[in-house]
Amino acid sequence: TQHKDLAGVHLIVTAGPTQEPIDPVRYITNRSSGKMGYSIAERAHKRGAEVLLITGPTGLPAVDGIKTINIKTCEEMLEQVRHNFEWADAVIMAAAVADYRPEYVSEQKIKKDDDAIMLKLVKNPDILEQLGKIKGNKKLVGFAAETEALYENAKKKIDKKNLDMIVANDVTEKGAGFEVDTNIISIIDRDGKVTKYPLMSKMQVADAILDRMLDILK
Ligand code: PMT
Repeated sequence: TQHKDLAGVHLIVTAGPTQEPIDPVRYITNRSSGKMGYSIAERAHKRGAEVLLITGPTGLPAVDGIKTINIKTCEEMLEQVRHNFEWADAVIMAAAVADYRPEYVSEQKIKKDDDAIMLKLVKNPDILEQLGKIKGNKKLVGFAAETEALYENAKKKIDKKNLDMIVANDVTEKGAGFEVDTNIISIIDRDGKVTKYPLMSKMQVADAILDRMLDILK
């Protein structure tokens, strides 16, 4: 890949899971390690972009030169992404944002007095969908983590969230998706054109996504 081909580009990248609290000691989350989002942030920075990384809790070390905002919940991520949206030319949402959160957060640790308890979950706001409504000339790149009907579901998300492209990964495939250092992706553009990629490291996947983003930014 060419050297500083992303110079001048202001890019927001989101990474990691969100944590949705149940009580002071418990939360709901998912398997995202942050590796995919961090790889994108790192490669974009190396290629000259100004990167703002907004990340849920991960075990990953901060990357030198990348401004990083740490959040926990979907609502905190939404707030930070919206707050910085004006500055950005493009947003890449690699974060695995929780779709639901507990309706009430117990102020005290829940006791194990009952044999069964109910936890009511309510829908979280959809960050990309909100951005899709106010995007103007900005470019929006989503991910689709699917376990079935990969292309069909990914294409629906492009329309629903008004995206410029979506990176679809079938998270049931070996070497793809959560936690591992590799991924197997397809990039789908607004016209529905699908480009399939072989198994690659998340750094290589990041470069492939950034190449395509650069094309649509031009
Ligand atoms: O972190 P790793 O361990 O490296 O794993 C990488 C990954 C599997 C998390 C990553 O490749 C990936 O697929 N990220 C998106 C996961 C996801 O939440 O997919 P989704 O299909 O549920 O969501 C679709 C898109 O909408 C995503 O870009 C998501 O960030 C966004 N979204 C989802 C929910 C929500 N409330 N707001 C959103 O903006």
